[in-house]
Formats: sequence, C-alpha cells, structure tokens
Amino acid sequence: MNILLLGGGGREHAFARSIVQSKLCSQLFIAPGNPGTAQHGKNVPLGVTDFEAIKKCCLENKIELVVVGPEDPLVQGIYDFFVADKELKNIFVIGPSRDAAQLEGSKAFAKEFMQRHKIPTAAYQSFDANSFEKGVEFIRTLNAPIVLKADGLAAGKGVLICNSMDEAEKEFKEMIHGKFGVASEKVVVEEFLHGIEMSVFILTDGVNYLLLPAAKDYKRIGEGDTGLNTGGMGAISPVPFADDVLMKKVVEQMIIPTIDGLQQDKLVYKGFIYFGLMIVNGEPFMIEYNCRMGDPETEAVLPRIESDLVDLFMGVAHEKLNEKKIVITDDYAATIVLTSGGYPEFFEKGKIIKEINSIKNSIVFHAGTIQQNNELLTSGGRVLAVTSLGKTLQEALKSSKASATKIQFDNKYFRSDIGFDVLQS
Ligand code: AMP
Ligand code: GLY
Repeated sequence: MNILLLGGGGREHAFARSIVQSKLCSQLFIAPGNPGTAQHGKNVPLGVTDFEAIKKCCLENKIELVVVGPEDPLVQGIYDFFVADKELKNIFVIGPSRDAAQLEGSKAFAKEFMQRHKIPTAAYQSFDANSFEKGVEFIRTLNAPIVLKADGLAAGKGVLICNSMDEAEKEFKEMIHGKFGVASEKVVVEEFLHGIEMSVFILTDGVNYLLLPAAKDYKRIGEGDTGLNTGGMGAISPVPFADDVLMKKVVEQMIIPTIDGLQQDKLVYKGFIYFGLMIVNGEPFMIEYNCRMGDPETEAVLPRIESDLVDLFMGVAHEKLNEKKIVITDDYAATIVLTSGGYPEFFEKGKIIKEINSIKNSIVFHAGTIQQNNELLTSGGRVLAVTSLGKTLQEALKSSKASATKIQFDNKYFRSDIGFDVLQS
C-alpha cells in the first residue's frame, strides 16, 4: 500500500526508515520530509496542517494509510477530517481524534482526565484571568519549586519551574496576561515532584494496546542536565531502572486506566500514547501525555522494534491489535543529538555537514538539514540524531559518541554525557 507520513524531523526520518522495511509498504510519501526521509521515499512539499493539500496528495497518490508524526495536525483534528470526508473515509489515520488529542493539547484537560480516572499525578489546580486571585492564593500554599504550565501548546516552552514563591507569582501573572499567547490564558499550577523521569509509549487501537520499548530523554542543553530546556538532546532505550516491578505499576496505574478512561469518556484513539513519567521512590506519577511519539525518543525506540511496523498499524486500523505481537531486540539503543551551537537560543544555519557518509556503526537521522546542490547544510537547531545499538548501554553510547565526534559542521554541539544518570546508579 501507499503510505503518507506527516512531519519533517528526526522522528519522521526514524519512522520512514522503519516503514519502508515493511513488506506491506509499496511507496512512501513524506510531507514535508527532509533529506533523510528522501532516502526512503518521496518528499512532498506540504504543510502538516494544510488538510486540503494533504487530501489532494492522498487522492493523487492512492494513499491508504496516513501516519502522523507531530502533534499540531492531531490537535487540529486531522483524524476527524479524514473520517468526515467521503472521499477519504477509506484511508486510515494513525493518531487520536481531535477530542482525544486534547490529552496533549490542553494540560488542564489532561490533569482532569488523570484525576477522573485515578491516575497518580502531582497535585494541581488550574486558573484563568477570572480566577487570578485564587491562583495567587494557591501558589502561596505550595513550597518551591513551583511548576507553572501554559494550558495549550507552546512549542515545548510552556512549562516553567519557579524556584521561589515570588518568581512563581510574577511568572503566573505574566502567563495569564499572555506570555505564551492564548496557550497561557489558562495556567495549571502544580507541585514539583522530585524523582527521575522516563517515557513509556504504547500503540493502541482504542481497546487493545502494545507496549513499546521505554526510553529516557535528556531535555536540558548542558551536561549534567543543566541549562535551558530543548526539544531533546539524546535518548536511551531501554531504561535500566524500569524493571518488571516498576513496569507492572505503570501498566496497572497508568496504561490500563488510560485505555479504560478513553473508552468511558468516548474518546476515539488509534495511535501512539506517550506517557511522560516521574518515578518518585519507585512509584510512577504522570507528568504529561503526548498524543504522538517523542523526538528524539523515536530515534532510539524504533530501531529496537523488529516487528513489521505497518502490520502493527493495520492492527490499529482494524481494531485487531490483540492479534499482533511486538518483537523487541534486547540490544540497547543510544541516541545523541547534534545541534547548531547556540541552540535553543540564537544559532546560525547553512553550515556544511561533512563526514556523514563515513559513519558505519550508527544510524544517522536527519532533523534540521537541507540539501543544496551537492551539499548537505544545517537548517535548524537540532541537526542530526545518531543512534547506535549495542549489547550494553555503554557500548551503544560509545559508538554514538564516536559518530557524533566524526561528523563535522561549524559550531557543532552535542552532549557527551547522555545516559550519565542511569550509568551512575
Ligand atoms: P511537560 O511539558 O509537562 O512535560 O513539562 C516539561 C518538563 O518539566 C518535564 O519533562 C519535567 O522535566 C518538568 N516537569 C513538569 N512537571 C513537573 C512536576 N510536576 N514536577 C517536576 N518536574 C516537572
Ligand atoms: N522528547 C520530548 C518530546 O518529544 O516531547
């Protein structure tokens, strides 16, 4: 079958690589894609939220399956768009309905869902301009650090961790007054959880689910988890501390109540769910839901899945995921993201990337690159993600570090300490 993949980052390069390995895939189209996805299919220059253009592309290319990488089209209702259109109704979309995508699109919605379905999470309340004074009062009942979250999508920037009550009050005021535009007209104020983070992923048809490999991502720009938050500087999979005891708790306390909750609330969900967890003294707490796979976690997770990914998607489409099995390698995966120096603040683009073709022991995923004439140039903050597999985490990290060192472009930066926290413990 012909497949359309939406998105153009490292996550989508990883998806493209796995999708074309499927015996069910005839031709893959990627919109808009990048020079990495172009190695596996045909890039089409479309915006991921331009639903009419996507429709045209699907009809012209006899697409039967649409796989959605980023959250924006999902939150804007691409699933519903396909279901509602007579010409598109035989095309399956891997992703949640617009209502279900609110699990990522609205932090307040997600917190209410967790509370309603008794899923452990940090104590919180949400406020808007009308309840501003109550918000300030609530902040004064908390101990620092205090977590403030813009309700809506804010390109990963809408969460502030305030180290004092004064800072929290000041930021809260700015957020309610539009610091993140409409996204922060409503603000979730919550207690800070001290623990270690990890991400768990499932693929669900709304009734059944398959547990994907767990991962841990590294969001801060600096070594030792310091400095500004980024889209993600690296990831490892599996997570060494996620033993059977912890995963049993995650399944019983998070995954099953989420699937049951979606059904009770009549939220149609046929796609990936990303559970962002904080493990506090061995107990899992939900930090956030994402209605998609993570980036760069996908680049560490997908290379470990040996099953035919498109076959699993068919299980989702036909609500027969219970008949599918997921096979995962025991090997470790370690992903290191190469960024343009200065990211996540100011950085320059257009630097020539060299030595990428000499990499033998890692998979090199493109995130922010552009092909110009015969040269590959940087075109974003996160430029490449290198993933290596190894019998141990140390071995996988060593290969990825060697590859990250070998690839050259001006002002290249990467964290050489990915995995440091789990290797210490
Ligand atoms: P989110 O967008 O909700 O994932 O938040 C971004 C990051 O902020 C998370 O990955 C955590 O590192 C941190 N964070 C969010 N909520 C909390 C919390 N309640 N306690 C501690 N850290 C948090
Ligand atoms: N790596 C974090 C995310 O994809 O949201």
